[in-house]
Amino acid sequence: MATQMKLIYCCGALVLLILVPSCCKGGHILVLPIEGSHWINMDILIQALHSRGHSLTVMRPSNSWYIKDNFQLQHIHSSSEEELLSELPLCFAWDVQALNNTKFDLVLTDPCWGSGALLAKHLSIPLVFNVRWIISEEGQFGITPSPLSYIPITGSGYTDKMTFFQRVKNNILYYIIRMNDMLVTKQVYQPLCEQYLGSDCDFDHLKIDAGIWLMRTDFVFDYPRPTVPNAMYMGGFHCKPAEPLSDYMEEFVQSSAEHRVIIMSLGTFVPELPDNLANEIAAAFAKLPQNVIWSYRGPKPSTLGNNTLLVDWRPQKDLLGDPKTKLFVTHGGTNGIQEAIYYGAPVVGLPLFFDQYDNLLHLQVKGGAKILTLSTVDKDDNFLKAIQEVLNKPSYRQNIQRLSRLHRDQPMKLIDTAVFWIEYVMRHKGAGLLKAQCYRMPWYVYHSVVVVLFLTGAVMLMLLATAMFIRCLWKSVCGCKVKLEVHRDHTH
Ligand SMILES: *[C@@H]1O[C@H](CO)[C@@H](O)[C@H](O)[C@H]1NC(C)=O
Ligand SMILES: *[C@@H]1O[C@H](CO)[C@@H](O)[C@H](O)[C@H]1NC(C)=O
Repeated sequence: MATQMKLIYCCGALVLLILVPSCCKGGHILVLPIEGSHWINMDILIQALHSRGHSLTVMRPSNSWYIKDNFQLQHIHSSSEEELLSELPLCFAWDVQALNNTKFDLVLTDPCWGSGALLAKHLSIPLVFNVRWIISEEGQFGITPSPLSYIPITGSGYTDKMTFFQRVKNNILYYIIRMNDMLVTKQVYQPLCEQYLGSDCDFDHLKIDAGIWLMRTDFVFDYPRPTVPNAMYMGGFHCKPAEPLSDYMEEFVQSSAEHRVIIMSLGTFVPELPDNLANEIAAAFAKLPQNVIWSYRGPKPSTLGNNTLLVDWRPQKDLLGDPKTKLFVTHGGTNGIQEAIYYGAPVVGLPLFFDQYDNLLHLQVKGGAKILTLSTVDKDDNFLKAIQEVLNKPSYRQNIQRLSRLHRDQPMKLIDTAVFWIEYVMRHKGAGLLKAQCYRMPWYVYHSVVVVLFLTGAVMLMLLATAMFIRCLWKSVCGCKVKLEVHRDHTH
């Protein structure tokens, strides 16, 4: 009965929280974000928290090129990440004093770098991760059980179905990451850990010691795998229903008539391509009946057709969400892939670096994308053929639309889920009972190596004792009593 009452109370509280934000006491949240495309996600989360009455303080590099003072946030200008690391003593000496006086309820950080976790521990503030990468590996590897037999290392180019030799390589890649962690990452952060948190602080444990992990992935995009109670999946939480296009863009889209539109973008880091490649791509586009909107900041390719519009700014999500969009040509960044899933736009992938190939592979395996390698794009009309295949084979569209329906079939909007868990941590001053204890274990304890060795030893001892006992018994039965006694005399 008491449990039932509690349950009803919790449900009531949940509904109130969502519907009547003005009734909630605002918390003080300290945010340590990461630059570039990572900021896109953090910014959306910050805005959602701000609109619910929380006050936010963003710690950002003074020379940051992406993180803007965009609304009533208090921005603390710190130096860039590298500088921040080298200047942490200074920062901790006086900046942190001020931070400590503010009495923050929560530190929200992207653990792609380790300073957020360090600061949260130093100030003894509950910590929430908005995570895709944890320093050198995909975020889930940081905390969830990750059997290498069916969970491919990002960068391996494998799926969840691996052959024997692929599994061998998957294991080797895993050990390389572990070595890199030990020889590079830990060397940078461990001295700071010891300086500020005492000599018994181990950065390997600290870097994963967060209350809640808001994972920017989900199982429509990712392969199914084990997880832990404090990992919350919110991949694609940044996607919103498309807004109307600008008049100019709308006119261009409409002029495509029944042929519809192709969108191409290679992300924030690659504004332009080598001339020959750009010309090849432009020539391929020119041969298509569809209109093309290409986010490109390089010089205009000489082969550009009159069906292709070059833009240096892209209302990407609104274009992808437009029902006239037939195809998305992308480099395969996580945000773009999740937008493709959300809006149900089939993909031709041109992966460039990082996790992009693996991201695209997820979609290709599920039938919603076709991957081209950059080295073969300009050969044998490969680019044109790939585009025509994805445009003309209905399965690509059907598969990605199915993924889109699965992705959208959720009990709560993902951004609300994310906000709920952040507020949950503030209400309970941590993640309560959700945290599995694995974060504080060295690998040999986690994998029970010592226990297995101990048990193996015990079994061997028992076997040995039994064998010796049988041997003695055998000998006494055989009437070799004399010999046995001689032997006993020897051992005494
Ligand atoms: C933060 O302030 C509390 C007192 O409010 C103090 O006990 C603690 O040592 C301070 N921590 C740091 C890192 O300055
Ligand atoms: C675009 O170019 C094609 C030939 O390449 C031509 O037939 C067509 O009329 C042109 N369209 C416009 C709107 O200029």
